[in-house]
Amino acid sequence: MDIKYDRRSFIKTSTVSVGAAALPLTMVELAFAKPSDNFTFAYISDSHIQQIKGTQFVRNWDRGLIRAVAETNLLTPKPDFIMYGGDLAQMGSKPELDHGAEILSKLNGKVYHVMGEHDYYLDLGEYWSKLFGKQYYSFNHKGVHFVVLNSILTYDEWTFNRWLSAEQRMAEMAGLDNPNGSPFMVGDKQREWLKKDLAKVKKDTPIVVFSHSPLQKIYKGWNFWTEDAEQVQALLAPFDKVTVFYGHVHQIQYNQIGNIAFTSAMATAWPWPYPQSYAQAQQLLPKLTVQMNRADPFFERDATGWQFIDVNSGRASATFNLYNNTTRTVAFDPQAGHPKDQTYQDEDKRISPQMHY
Ligand SMILES: [Fe+2]
Ligand SMILES: [Fe+2]
Repeated sequence: MDIKYDRRSFIKTSTVSVGAAALPLTMVELAFAKPSDNFTFAYISDSHIQQIKGTQFVRNWDRGLIRAVAETNLLTPKPDFIMYGGDLAQMGSKPELDHGAEILSKLNGKVYHVMGEHDYYLDLGEYWSKLFGKQYYSFNHKGVHFVVLNSILTYDEWTFNRWLSAEQRMAEMAGLDNPNGSPFMVGDKQREWLKKDLAKVKKDTPIVVFSHSPLQKIYKGWNFWTEDAEQVQALLAPFDKVTVFYGHVHQIQYNQIGNIAFTSAMATAWPWPYPQSYAQAQQLLPKLTVQMNRADPFFERDATGWQFIDVNSGRASATFNLYNNTTRTVAFDPQAGHPKDQTYQDEDKRISPQMHY
């Protein structure tokens, strides 16, 4: 059976023949006890909606999110839910969060939210929580235990005592390579909550965790980093199947640490370069990761996109719907024991995965 899967052509097809019998769903293998237990969800992240003034917002970032919403609404079968991975706003203001929420309100389906640092550091999540609810929580869906963490907290002294204004605090946390920044962390309170939450879950139940920053240490200068990552990983270690999805890095990354598979999300706004192409500072970019080529500045949406997640046998695979780029799928490989790029993982197949139309 051919398991090659092209969501882009699928979406194009679905606009003209919704419900066609020959949909390319062959990657949904019947790994759960009941085929009906396999399911999908969409995962959109890092839109960075930015107010210029009044009702004027940066057009380019708006377009990225509008496109993700439109394409998600075309998915057939409909995803069971949509996860939004954080950094909906750029400077955390009410107009930005409202404008982002309005665009997201066009999604047909339930939307869950993850907190990003750009949503948080103006008012410490107050308005975001009014719009979207709890900052960390869990839920069960078709035999999978989902956990959402707020991983972008930092030291109390930095958050509460250091800055003259909330705006300054937000601006300091928004910068890369900023010596005034501070490392992200989940923190004692949430780790205590997570420990209690997981105590109720059987060890063979698949676990899917969402955080904004990676729950692993990749590159400190850009906060591709969570200070207490190892402590969170230790809480997840007793479970057979764990997948962590994270935003924030605006690029494709995947990794395996023990039983935990990690996969990042693309941003709908803009791509960051890979750390090793940028700085001499120590970075721990996972060796498994097949990098994208540099974004082409002549394509405004290049190296941006959103994800479609197939929860197959409790191991989630991510199909990256890359605007102006070839679709890529990263799926857990049971033989290898880690995620793999389904097309470009082998060295000799890495022939410019970034192909423009
Ligand atoms: Fe971001
Ligand atoms: Fe972020």
